[in-house]
Amino acid sequence: MEFKAIVDPRTRKDGACSIIGVHEDGSLGEPTGRIDARLGGLAARLHAAHDFSGKLAETMLLAHPSEAPGARVLLVGLGAKGKFGRKQYRKAVQAAAQGVLKTGAGEAVLHLAPDPDSGLDDYARGRIVAEVFCGQLYRIPDLKTGPKPKPVRLHAVHLATADARASKHAQQGLDDGVALAEGVAFSRDLANLPPNVCTPTYLGAQALALGKRFASIKVSVLGERQIKKLKMGAFLAVARGSTEPPRLIVCEYRGAGRTSAPVCLVGKGITFDSGGISLKDPPAMDEMKFDMSGAASVLGALRAVARLRLPINLVAIVATCENMPAGNAVKPADIVTSMSGQTVEVLNTDAEGRLILCDAITYSRRFKPAAVIDVATLTGACVIALGNHMSGLMSNDEALAAQVAAAGLRADDRAWRMPIGEEYVEQLKSNFADLANVGGREGGACTAAAFLSKFASGLKWAHLDVAGTAWLGGAQKGSTGRPVPLLVDFLIERARGK
Ligand code: BES
Ligand code: MN
Ligand code: ZN
Repeated sequence: MEFKAIVDPRTRKDGACSIIGVHEDGSLGEPTGRIDARLGGLAARLHAAHDFSGKLAETMLLAHPSEAPGARVLLVGLGAKGKFGRKQYRKAVQAAAQGVLKTGAGEAVLHLAPDPDSGLDDYARGRIVAEVFCGQLYRIPDLKTGPKPKPVRLHAVHLATADARASKHAQQGLDDGVALAEGVAFSRDLANLPPNVCTPTYLGAQALALGKRFASIKVSVLGERQIKKLKMGAFLAVARGSTEPPRLIVCEYRGAGRTSAPVCLVGKGITFDSGGISLKDPPAMDEMKFDMSGAASVLGALRAVARLRLPINLVAIVATCENMPAGNAVKPADIVTSMSGQTVEVLNTDAEGRLILCDAITYSRRFKPAAVIDVATLTGACVIALGNHMSGLMSNDEALAAQVAAAGLRADDRAWRMPIGEEYVEQLKSNFADLANVGGREGGACTAAAFLSKFASGLKWAHLDVAGTAWLGGAQKGSTGRPVPLLVDFLIERARGK
């Protein structure tokens, strides 16, 4: 798909679909009014006749109106004028993309000019347009054997802007949006694959392929022997019940000088979480193939950063294995020694994410990171607390927490701060080891994060619990690619600050 910011929409070819916005009160704004004038005021009349209300995301296709600038016009509702902001723009563009993809148009020209006081600049508009259209074009890498769906006809999306300056900013947004969307799609692909394909070995191979594709990324994939040498006793305890060997994946992206401390992203890569000896209930156990979504998001963000050539250093660390029951599997009451030296009593083998992450966080210390952010589908409790709308955010650093939350807001991939602290660590007391790996049902998302915090002391660290946001269940079952938008926004902002 080609994305282009343009100034004069009259340069577009015939057969295009012009997309114009109508507010609930019937106001069209510029340049919609001008276009509607060429339609003989059709949009205004449809609104006046109550055929088109202008409700947010409502669409109506005016097919082949004779006076149309292009073969088709798609009306998109923009909702209440005073309430039009970034979120509404995203919704309107989403509806526009869905609408135009149903038509035979090869090109689309977007005229959805925002309210001047919507707070949306041209860069943000461009990014949203690219993100949304790419998202609509995403197809699950399925293994269905029937006839393949027809390829889409749409091949170019033009974003109309006010002048050359606006167009330059919008183009930057479109380009960033495409890179971001590719990172999201990469992440979704990995997570959507079945767990007999997407194994730890496969994730390692995908990381190596990223390293081949981008000269700026250096990848090493460590196997069991090397993981043993690192004394990652907690990680290895989870891996031991599976016949699939574990991998520690380390990707170093170099976009800044040697002396610039990197950001470390740490991803949970459980390619299947059966619960282990503390076996899960059967309902929805298949969804535990998505338990490597943290790992997928970290690799997706890395890919986007490499495409954008951001002037920062970034390290992606992925601990990946299966969590399976077996005769030699880790069992409740086993005590393991983590890489940090702290001992952990495994009271529940289903609380495996924190066991692999604690060692990966300890490993991140060797990079002397400026910040460490781990991403994990860590707890069902987080889903209960926040639902599917927001990721849980815990941190031991106020400034970092604020930056992560702000990135989520800007990227429409929100995270909500939740507490950690001594009260929660208290719940993890063990009579037999330094820590237990579970702290009871109460505050489960917070005790899980508090467990990790014991391995992050002295680091500027944030934790994203994406158990509720990384995938959707039910009829729309599939990966969302979250929190790649948050992570990439955070890193773009960091690169700008330099
Ligand atoms: N991967 C799960 C968390 C999860 C559960 C994500 C459901 C999304 C939906 C994690 O490994 C897990 O099993 N956590 C346990 C922790 C408990 C044993 C303390 C949980 O949340 O039940
Ligand atoms: Mn589990
Ligand atoms: Zn898990």
